[in-house]
Amino acid sequence: MLTIRTEDRIETDNDPLSPQLSSIRDLCMYDRNRILALLDQVKPDHSLPRALYRDQDVFEFEVEQLLPRSWLMIGFEVELPEAGSYLAITIGSSPILLVRGRDGVIRGFHNTCRHRGSMICADGRGRSSRLICPYHKWTYDLDGRLIGASRMGSGFRGEEHGLTPISVRLLAGCIYVALSADAPDFSPFATAVEPLLHRYRLRETRLAYESVIVERANWKLAMENARECYHCATGHPELRRTFPVAIGQGFSFGDHAHVKHYFERLASLGLPTKSQEGSWWQSGFYPLNAGVETISMDGKPLVKQRLIDSDEKELGGYRWATEPTAFGHALVDYVFMFFVIPVAPLETHIVSKWLVPREAVEGVDYRVEDLIEAWTKTNAQDRELAENNQRGVNSIGYRPGPYSAEAEEYTRRFVDWYHTEARAAALACGGASARESLPGAAPDTLPAISR
Ligand code: FES
Ligand SMILES: [Fe+2]
Repeated sequence: MLTIRTEDRIETDNDPLSPQLSSIRDLCMYDRNRILALLDQVKPDHSLPRALYRDQDVFEFEVEQLLPRSWLMIGFEVELPEAGSYLAITIGSSPILLVRGRDGVIRGFHNTCRHRGSMICADGRGRSSRLICPYHKWTYDLDGRLIGASRMGSGFRGEEHGLTPISVRLLAGCIYVALSADAPDFSPFATAVEPLLHRYRLRETRLAYESVIVERANWKLAMENARECYHCATGHPELRRTFPVAIGQGFSFGDHAHVKHYFERLASLGLPTKSQEGSWWQSGFYPLNAGVETISMDGKPLVKQRLIDSDEKELGGYRWATEPTAFGHALVDYVFMFFVIPVAPLETHIVSKWLVPREAVEGVDYRVEDLIEAWTKTNAQDRELAENNQRGVNSIGYRPGPYSAEAEEYTRRFVDWYHTEARAAALACGGASARESLPGAAPDTLPAISR
């Protein structure tokens, strides 16, 4: 298995040991007027100004002020199978750590020692009964409490130096984290997605494969590409065999007989036929091409066992996506997850994970090469597209261009989200919370770009 930086963490919001950073706004070190001036240049329904795709200070603002305002999908509960299992991953400039405690709870922490800040666990997965800083060996229990710190004197209060927790939410087997208290209310998303994703029994799966691709493109170009299928008919010859690449506005699929039949079957199974969404998330069932059972090279199942408890052959897929970094596809026989990690203004890591039913045996019930082929080819093609996009955006001749209302609706929504949340984050720098300062703005209803 190819392993890259990954991790998990758990529920720590109410942990009394180490108060969560309630806000990062006090840490703001950016020229917010410059950031706001760049955001003011954003034209409705157009790609972003060049500097927002390239500049170092914009990037640092995004990873330190914008991403912490989001729920970031990091992985799956099954990646932390037992007490002491941990997953460490760096998001932008911030290493984080997910740990399963002896009580079974998954907790999340900033992966920085409370002594002098050393990173405690190297990025990756592992298992340990304690978390020991490699520098001066301060030792933390799995719940983040400091339980060992030599030569600190009689006045030292260890209970004041536990690991700094981060918010963790578990959703039908998926792990989401937020690095500040400024993330929106998770509950509307969870209420919509949990009962549907639950049917795919993600907690009874295992990670079959993971990949990380280094993409020489800004993370927003990677996500803009991932949010539209305008390019799919010509850009993804393998994906188009199974996926309805002519997808239209509102996640619509036309009125072909097999599409109508698909939604009739969904309704008869008690499943929703319309997509659901909030300002920072979307979810919904979708049909695959006629005669197709899963996303594979030939439309045939890739795994002998099924994830969903239904014998329906053409059940399509269930998609759930969160701004600004992730999406997942649940299919009858496997789950595919995709998320981006911004690394530098012109470098992004694309992390992909494949889950299969826990009982499926590699080489007997599925072959890894087959399991990953369609998405791996699609990812490689997308890397070429995004890197080429970046090369053109680097040009002094680049001008923001218009999105297609029909074919790039979700890219436009991504950019709207970015514009709104980046503006709120910039306004919050050194001042009141932007969610507080925008009159009447509830967490899920921040104003979009006026158009
Ligand atoms: S920095 Fe961790 S023990 Fe010193
Ligand atoms: Fe693509």
